[in-house]
Amino acid sequence: MYLKTIFLQNFKNYKDISIGFSKNVNCIYGLNGAGKTNILDAIHYLSFTKSFFSYSDKKNINFSNDLGYFTLKGVYVHDQEDAELSIRCAYDQKEKHFWLNEKKYKKFSSHIGRVPLVFISPSDIQLVEGGSESRRKFMDLIISQKNKTYLNALVKYHKTLAQRNALLKESFRKNIDDALFEIFDDQLKEWGDVIRKEREQFLKAFTSKVEEYYRIISKEKETIALEYQQSNLELKKNFQIDLRRGFTTSGVHRDDIVFLMHQKSLKAYASEGQKKSFVIALRLAQLNVIKEALGISPILLLDDIFDRIDQHRAQVLLHTVSNQIDSQVFISHTDGKKLKEVFNAQTNVHFYKVEKQNVVKTHAS
Ligand SMILES: Nc1ncnc2c1ncn2[C@@H]1O[C@H](COP(=O)(O)OP(=O)(O)O)[C@@H](O)[C@H]1O
Ligand SMILES: [Mg+2]
Repeated sequence: MYLKTIFLQNFKNYKDISIGFSKNVNCIYGLNGAGKTNILDAIHYLSFTKSFFSYSDKKNINFSNDLGYFTLKGVYVHDQEDAELSIRCAYDQKEKHFWLNEKKYKKFSSHIGRVPLVFISPSDIQLVEGGSESRRKFMDLIISQKNKTYLNALVKYHKTLAQRNALLKESFRKNIDDALFEIFDDQLKEWGDVIRKEREQFLKAFTSKVEEYYRIISKEKETIALEYQQSNLELKKNFQIDLRRGFTTSGVHRDDIVFLMHQKSLKAYASEGQKKSFVIALRLAQLNVIKEALGISPILLLDDIFDRIDQHRAQVLLHTVSNQIDSQVFISHTDGKKLKEVFNAQTNVHFYKVEKQNVVKTHAS
């Protein structure tokens, strides 16, 4: 699946443009603030029915001509079926609409997965440096995409957890029968066990994929590991603490993944470049899993490619994504010359210069 043409109207800094893309590699360059990431975000939008960044759709409407709406349209080509597919979106400050081949969606959720996509962003470094929530979310999202049993257990677990937490808060005001908590504890244990089993299995297979990509990108022989760190599922043990705090302090919703390099914490000991390479390896492994599950190569967006990595690593990465992964790739960077050097007159690479609210296709040299 690849994006052939995109149309943007009043989306962020773009008033009205259309851009035709290469089915292989597309390099987007221009000064800071020119609008490179905005293009990638529009592509993200068409896949996920929302922006990668802002939660409020109003922020995506162009504020300089104030027409009060934005529209996006993508024309895609499905390689295997040799068929075209159009996705259109319109937002008018009140409502958002999505169409697939001009047929309007009733539920946006049924669109997710139609055009699979992986976004590699500078903010991904949070997966290593941030709290456990981002890592759980990363893992939960990948597993639930292909495993309905897991998704079901996750939904039920979180529902029960919310009920238990509400009861803990209620117990500040009145006496609650312990038997009520026991019912919730048993349910949390039951769903929690299912979730843990699937997470463990997933991490085993996923680790070897991450390892493989890490080796390719970094050309280093570090051994890496993704270790599942479990909190206590015997909720009785922490019951007194839970009562005092008014929420459930342990369970699979507090589990974590610890990233290790040479058996040491990646967060504590690795260099910036190693951390970034690791995060990219995580995303490429994610792309690989999605491809296996859906049978379609996801579109890959690489924003600010030289962020935290040196020229050499970036070069290896770019050659990897352009030669070893059969996805359509979009790469953004400020320096067009540097990108052209890296790709060194490969024919399947297109270059686009972004300036003054416009995008112009340029020559490779
Ligand atoms: N709703 C909007 N209307 C007009 N311009 C916007 C809007 N949202 C963001 N921008 C502009 O987009 C620019 C940032 O674009 P971005 O794609 O992040 O740049 P970069 O090329 O550095 O990736 C900023 O100049 C900002 O003012
Ligand atoms: Mg940017």
